[in-house]
Amino acid sequence: MSLLQVKNLIVEFPGRHGTLRALDDISFEIAPGEILGVVGESGAGKSLTGAAIIGLLEPPGRIGGGQILLEGERIDGLPYERMRHIRGRKIGAIFQDPLTSLNPLYTVGQQLTETILAHMPLSAKQARERRFPCCKIPAYPQPNNAWALPHQFSGGMRQRVVIALALAAEPKLIVADEPTTALDVSIQAQIITLLKSVCKQHGAAVMLITHDMGVIAETCDRVAVMYAGRVAEIGPVHEVINHPSHPYRGPDGRDSRHYPGPRAPESD
Ligand SMILES: Nc1ncnc2c1ncn2[C@@H]1O[C@H](COP(=O)(O)OP(=O)(O)O)[C@@H](O)[C@H]1O
Ligand SMILES: [Mg+2]
Repeated sequence: MSLLQVKNLIVEFPGRHGTLRALDDISFEIAPGEILGVVGESGAGKSLTGAAIIGLLEPPGRIGGGQILLEGERIDGLPYERMRHIRGRKIGAIFQDPLTSLNPLYTVGQQLTETILAHMPLSAKQARERRFPCCKIPAYPQPNNAWALPHQFSGGMRQRVVIALALAAEPKLIVADEPTTALDVSIQAQIITLLKSVCKQHGAAVMLITHDMGVIAETCDRVAVMYAGRVAEIGPVHEVINHPSHPYRGPDGRDSRHYPGPRAPESD
């Protein structure tokens, strides 16, 4: 059975001049332990898809139709508290900027302990002991660094902490939205490799949103290509890369499968 099923998902933004349909009939599945890449140019709807799954669509954005099922149970439209519990316990989230996931006032060790305590029936002592296996992520801050505050780490180290936090309660699914885009190019590959290896170790499935086809090719089992709020194509990575049924031609007529990443804001 699929771990995650997204069926005919519609996300819309009601506005004064009518309703904007930002995601239009999105359907895909993720199997347990599978890494699904999601690519597409800026504005294609990748982040909204991730946000809908983890229940963090920002109002006025809302689910206008369809279903999201985790282990066969609907998780769209759950009350906030229920969804907050699922987020963390069953779904871990990793965002582009690690600081959005970290509290600047608490040590990374405290945050790991808190996260574990929030989701698992353990004593504080057990949680502290448990957090060290999380810290065994290669090059993750050593246990003595658990007393450091987030700002004392580099961006790459912070994202390692966030990966440890996301996995702390052993969720079945990780949703990672451009997890390395904000990081130094020299450590992007390390973080992706780390994410892949720890998720495989923990048996967690991953929805990896990125605009980097190179990352997809090296990391993912299957890939969904999004375009204008729809899934244009989905399949095994080698098939989609080698036999694109939905080629995107750039203005110069070339196949622009190497998505350029977020566009610079347009000036007017
Ligand atoms: N707060 C918002 N209000 C109105 N429309 C939005 C909002 N956020 C996103 N959208 C619409 O949804 C589209 C997809 O956004 P997003 O999922 O962030 O794209 P991606 O992550 O692929 O770059 C945008 O192009 C925009 O049209
Ligand atoms: Mg995005």
